[in-house]
Amino acid sequence: MFQPVQITDSVYYVGVNDRRKLLFENQFPVPYGVSYNAYLVCDEEVALIDTVDVGFADLFLKKIESVIGNREIDYLIINHMEPDHSGSVRFIKERYPRIRIVANAKTFDMLNGYFGIIDHLHEVKDGDMLELGRRRLRFALTPMVHWPETMMTYDLTDKVLFSGDAFGTFGALNGGLIDETMDISRFWDEMRRYYACIVGKYGVPVQNAMKKLKDTEMRYICTTHGPVWHEHIRQTLQLYDRWSRYEAAPGAVIAYGSMYGNTEQMAETIAEGVVKGGVKEVAMYDTSHTDSSYILSDIFQYSGFIVGSPTYMGGILPQVESLLSKIEVRGIKNRTCAVFGSFTWAGTAIKKILPAMEALKWEITGSVEEKQALKQEKYQDCVTLGKTLAEKILSAEK
Ligand code: FEO
Repeated sequence: MFQPVQITDSVYYVGVNDRRKLLFENQFPVPYGVSYNAYLVCDEEVALIDTVDVGFADLFLKKIESVIGNREIDYLIINHMEPDHSGSVRFIKERYPRIRIVANAKTFDMLNGYFGIIDHLHEVKDGDMLELGRRRLRFALTPMVHWPETMMTYDLTDKVLFSGDAFGTFGALNGGLIDETMDISRFWDEMRRYYACIVGKYGVPVQNAMKKLKDTEMRYICTTHGPVWHEHIRQTLQLYDRWSRYEAAPGAVIAYGSMYGNTEQMAETIAEGVVKGGVKEVAMYDTSHTDSSYILSDIFQYSGFIVGSPTYMGGILPQVESLLSKIEVRGIKNRTCAVFGSFTWAGTAIKKILPAMEALKWEITGSVEEKQALKQEKYQDCVTLGKTLAEKILSAEK
């Protein structure tokens, strides 16, 4: 029933789209869905590269059969063991009992732990090759992009890189697959949000992987999520290089919590100051309304960060505190920041936020704290804070 989706003479797409999942990893919203990509490489022998989420196992098997009919699959190459990709391994093994699983030693430990699978294993190390006939596949271990067992597989014949999570995006595939066949403009923001949420902590491992790929000629990058990159390979590599170095564009993210609008009024005033200071790109978020994944994504985009909270129960508003902990865990580097807050009877929020910013080693431009409603003196301080931050952002670009 299914028409095989072909990428090269020998590489086929057998992935699926998930538009039912509300939260990826049960934490990140996916309003445009997400795809779980898997690929078949067909030669004298057949290799399947990764599987899909367990909820799609039946559809996955049908898609595979639409490509290879009753042929056997000789190898299952596991680039990544996270269950969004390894979820259907057990079903593949049941359907193709003679299949040999190709992966590295760390993967086998997880394969045993998750599924109790310990037989028909073919261990590979960094740089090892596998011949399928005319085609040769080479394996590159890329630990911590995104898990310790992560590796990539490279088809030397067709120059296709199967990159695992790297270069992936949120967003299901709406009928297209290869970037040049669809409008991919909507994917760039989702790619950065995916990076910020999933891979963003691992800047150094991503840089190590990029170095390993430096001289690899790529006609296609087949990721585990989102489009297959062909026309936009250079742009995709450049974005990953930039994000993993924590490089950012001149702009400011203002993220705040506000219970009755007083801290919000400070945020509005600081934003006016930022624009007066010459910075045009300003992203403002009420942390009680916008999911932190979108805020994190913009923090990866812009070099300035301004955070504000009212004092709540002797500390930081929980929504703001949660955002700060997500920034901290990702170890985002090289940002310029400022802090603000308001209180009614005892101001403690900014006293708790400032050490968090110091721990990140971000440059702290200053802080403003107001008691109760925003008044003239602190209004002016907020404008000045915004302008000063803007000047620092712009001077860093020179
Ligand atoms: Fe798409 Fe790290 O799994």
